[in-house]
Amino acid sequence: MSRDTGKLRFVDSNYSDLRDWLEQVDHLGELTAIRGADRDLEIPGIWEAVSREGRGIRPALLFDEIPGFSTGFRILFGQLESVRRLALTLRLNLDKADILSCVRACRDRLKQMVLVSPQKANDGPVMENVDTDGKVDLYKFPAPLHHDNDGGRYFGTGHCVISRDPDEGWVNLGTYRCMLFGQQSLGLHMSAGRDGRSMMNKYFSRGEPYKVAVAIGVDPALYLSSTMTIPWGTSEYDFAGGLKGNPIEVIEGPYTKLPIPASAEIVVEGECYPGDTQPEGPFGEWAGYYANNGLSPVLEPVMHVKTVLYRKNPILTCVQPAKPPSDLLKEGIFRSALIWDELEKAGVPNVRGVWCDLAGGTRLFNVVSIKQAYPGHSRQAGMIASQCGSGVYIGRYTVVVDDDIDVTDLQDVIWALSTRADPERSVEIIRRCRSSSADPAISPDLKATSHNPDDTFTSKAVIDACWPYEWKDRAFPVVQVKPELHDKIVKKWGKLLKLNGSVAQSE
Ligand SMILES: Cc1cc2nc3c(=O)[nH]c(=O)nc-3n(C[C@H](O)[C@H](O)[C@H](O)COP(=O)(O)O)c2cc1C
Repeated sequence: MSRDTGKLRFVDSNYSDLRDWLEQVDHLGELTAIRGADRDLEIPGIWEAVSREGRGIRPALLFDEIPGFSTGFRILFGQLESVRRLALTLRLNLDKADILSCVRACRDRLKQMVLVSPQKANDGPVMENVDTDGKVDLYKFPAPLHHDNDGGRYFGTGHCVISRDPDEGWVNLGTYRCMLFGQQSLGLHMSAGRDGRSMMNKYFSRGEPYKVAVAIGVDPALYLSSTMTIPWGTSEYDFAGGLKGNPIEVIEGPYTKLPIPASAEIVVEGECYPGDTQPEGPFGEWAGYYANNGLSPVLEPVMHVKTVLYRKNPILTCVQPAKPPSDLLKEGIFRSALIWDELEKAGVPNVRGVWCDLAGGTRLFNVVSIKQAYPGHSRQAGMIASQCGSGVYIGRYTVVVDDDIDVTDLQDVIWALSTRADPERSVEIIRRCRSSSADPAISPDLKATSHNPDDTFTSKAVIDACWPYEWKDRAFPVVQVKPELHDKIVKKWGKLLKLNGSVAQSE
């Protein structure tokens, strides 16, 4: 692979598992090893500090020699939090390693993608250690305490929860946080409408146990797929295989008989029973708050663990939700690509960019740029982006801008919004839309009194910040130094003035 600062080219063969991927990340210069840090608050805090610096490369952090744990029992933070690591994961060749190029390349991949079913194997590295029954001990893994006010340690934050639909037989993977309830039990926090929860409800309505597996340290493309809203009925195994162009290798889980990733670092198998819940959380969330139920726990199903499979020297992959930007880059990039793809499939022409901004947790403030082609085009783009499958979850603000605006530059977006949009003509409010139990704008009173905190609504604003179609060709000229002069200036004076030449240009 090339390490040229601008272009990114992957010429070698694909990676085989997380460890192989980590070696390649190391070659890219994006992996930092840290020894001796404490798993409670310190390790997540170190990653949060790196993440908040925000600029430049945020390396993935691999922690070892964690006090109280066997050497080799490691923790990985920041897995997919760089354009280069995401490009490596999906083998994207980029001419410029910037966010929008990466979004565009992901969109291109989605357009051409063909689903690839997983490949069955009889054995795999995850079977190196198998603990069953009385030997099951989740405490041997360094599950961290992430934030001061969390209700406990979390075993699953950067992982996949695997289950099978009892009617249709397909297998879903979703990333739903798993609190460490005890030595042999975990809590599953699955919001209403999540595929895993819908499957669980089906089993429970028949009075049957819900068999489930939690896989940690899986192929990064599989992990990425499990964090994304893939249509009901499509397995994330097939989706990840399609993204990679290679099947994911699976073996049959000894207890659940579910397909589990053969080279995962850790897989925990077990089951949940109807009516069997325990207090779960609170846990710091992606929007930057404890918004689910304030600092009080919620009741969630208990997963009774029957087997634990793990590799020698297992790696616990973790994510630190916190006040943005936190761990949101992969979601920002991939969700933007999914919305872009859905817009095009819905017939919206001339989409030039989509960006689910990290400041809005990638779910609250989304921007679409278009080259306007007809009256109503900008409204169409905004309405569809705010309601399509990948944008519907809260999606409070959707801003549509002209194609001279860089959707990934908030300064540019706010400039367009405040200069080209007039609230009376430009803002559409859509009422009673999909919200979430994690929505911080729903009052604590409503959360406390509603029968189910997931049964709440939000309104949404679609802000058309494009020049009005009728006079867009007479729009006021932008005042800014011309690109040719800017380049000359950078050439002549850039060294003295430390200019990097990367000023965005408007047309
Ligand atoms: C790091 C991370 C943690 C997440 N935690 C949860 C969670 O605890 N509960 C939940 O319902 N969704 C959570 N999500 C969102 C889901 O993973 C995401 O919506 C996914 O599409 C769900 O899969 P499904 O569509 O198959 O249900 C999380 C996402 C990420 C990236």
